[in-house]
Amino acid sequence: MKIGSADLCIPSALWYEWVMSALRVAFISDLHLDHNPGLLPILEARLREVRAQIFIMAGDMFSGMSRLEAALKRLRQCCDHVLFIPGNHDLWVNETNSIGDSRAIYDSVMLRTVHRAGAHYLGTAPFYFENLAVCGATGWYDDYPSPPITTPDAKLCHWPDFETPAQVLEWQLGLLERQLTEASERARKIVVVTHTVPYPSLLKKHVSEELIAYMGSERLGALIDRFPKVVYAISGHIHARILRRTKGGIPWEVSPFGYPKELGEDPREVILRSLRLIEV
Ligand SMILES: [Fe+2]
Ligand SMILES: [Fe+2]
Repeated sequence: MKIGSADLCIPSALWYEWVMSALRVAFISDLHLDHNPGLLPILEARLREVRAQIFIMAGDMFSGMSRLEAALKRLRQCCDHVLFIPGNHDLWVNETNSIGDSRAIYDSVMLRTVHRAGAHYLGTAPFYFENLAVCGATGWYDDYPSPPITTPDAKLCHWPDFETPAQVLEWQLGLLERQLTEASERARKIVVVTHTVPYPSLLKKHVSEELIAYMGSERLGALIDRFPKVVYAISGHIHARILRRTKGGIPWEVSPFGYPKELGEDPREVILRSLRLIEV
């Protein structure tokens, strides 16, 4: 998708400067490689074709640190700058990672794993490249859905420091705010990546009323909207392709791969559509 200056209300001189300094950024989310074995070579081939300078994965990739590290190492062979933010699935405490709590996964285990693979971990610090900063946080929810709807996160994510989903969200908002504040000082343009949805109210066509609360939180969107250097917002979590303009006028996009049962078609075709390439 090519976005024009009129779409973003940018004066033409500034637009010219923007285009001349544009970076090619590829992104995708929800690869769910546990459920999609065989997908990695297809993604590698496509990444080599698109020749992006930065490749962003917006969460829900793998459970299990050694497999995550191996996959990221392979992707690093296809793009110089690979950026990763964990999704809710990546923070589950289960037999594949045998780590005691989700906070430890987020703060240290995931960070070390991603860095060992030569990739950048967006969970704790922005990534800087030329005049661009990429900031990230997993995000969370104002609350879990009420019974009879259940969510695996309520059982599989262990947060020793937090009693409610809203407290997890508060912690994530603080992390993202620090990144956005720092990046606003250092960069001219900012891309924000969250796993959960920052603008759930824009999902009404896609998600039933009862599930909206489990998509993310408007508080994430309100935070992002406070920072005028943000030019693009990317998320994951919802397994539907979405491109909307926020109230602040920036594009917000979700471009997931998803689960095999949701696809019903050749994964190569899905990757062609789902690996998005933008210029920022
Ligand atoms: Fe997912
Ligand atoms: Fe998710």
